[in-house]
Amino acid sequence: MFQPDLLRDEVILVTGGGTGLGRAIAQRCAELGARVALCGRRGEVAEQAAAEIAAATGAEAMGAACDVRAFEQVEAWVASVVARFGRVTALVNNAAGNFLAQTETLSPNAFKSVVDIVLAGSFHATLAAGRQMIAQRSGGAVLSIVTTYAWTGSAFVVPSACAKSGVLAMTRSLAVEWARYRIRCNAIAPGPFPTEGAFSRLMPPGAEEAARRKVPLGRFGEPHELADLAAYLLAPGSSYVNGEVVTIDGGEWLNGGEFNWLTQLPAEQLDAGFAAVRERTRKGK
Ligand code: COA
Repeated sequence: MFQPDLLRDEVILVTGGGTGLGRAIAQRCAELGARVALCGRRGEVAEQAAAEIAAATGAEAMGAACDVRAFEQVEAWVASVVARFGRVTALVNNAAGNFLAQTETLSPNAFKSVVDIVLAGSFHATLAAGRQMIAQRSGGAVLSIVTTYAWTGSAFVVPSACAKSGVLAMTRSLAVEWARYRIRCNAIAPGPFPTEGAFSRLMPPGAEEAARRKVPLGRFGEPHELADLAAYLLAPGSSYVNGEVVTIDGGEWLNGGEFNWLTQLPAEQLDAGFAAVRERTRKGK
């Protein structure tokens, strides 16, 4: 899909890059020539992922323990990347926390725990990496992984919806404010991608088939599809894309339209049903 050296000369930070979609993004960036730095709360998981990515791609990759909730840890992580790779050209805000719950059962601390990871964590990483990119005068890119319910809202994930819509607001705000530094800020809104981290928390047992049916394309996303979109938005070639959120969900979020549920009926039943309705309205004339 891309030139093999699309991301040559890039140094890309990925929070939560040790597993799931973050890892898929980091791996794709490395395949396309970038040097990548991954962090996660579990340092050994990030280090192991970096070693595997380096072995698979031949690119330089470093993994480190860093909890995005703690700004001093994020600052130290960015400094360690600069010490090794000399600079930073892009950040992917991927680290997240989420769970399904009926909102009235939540404790204030449950709300805070998700908002701290998603919203404060994305701000911390953006601030530390952004300051570095501003000091370098090199321009750069910040790419945040949000979700379609950042603008629709969603039942049962209120802390995440609040936090992700905040990340989207940060993205659009900084797209304007940091344009003077040539730092582009964009977001990706994935629909359902079956990673262990997300599906173990967000897919109740037995609900997969119904979730799949809600996607007009009739399937879940594959991590490489999201990773390619991220590579495009991180690449210097997308230099005029700024402040955008790109949805990658097989059309899922648009499927809330009032009559969309009819797509679940077989075509013959629709034909007959629509013809009957038409006949009824003709008679009424
Ligand atoms: N339902 C309701 N409340 C929950 C919950 C759930 N499924 N899971 C945690 N909580 C509450 C806890 O009860 C606690 O509140 P309390 O102190 O009032 O009892 C609060 O949230 C913090 O829980 P804790 O487990 O101490 O938080 P943590 O900071 O270690 O973990 C989470 C953060 C809860 C987001 C955890 O799920 C996590 O670490 N997730 C990271 C990965 C992830 O979610 N990936 C999916 C991305 S789609």
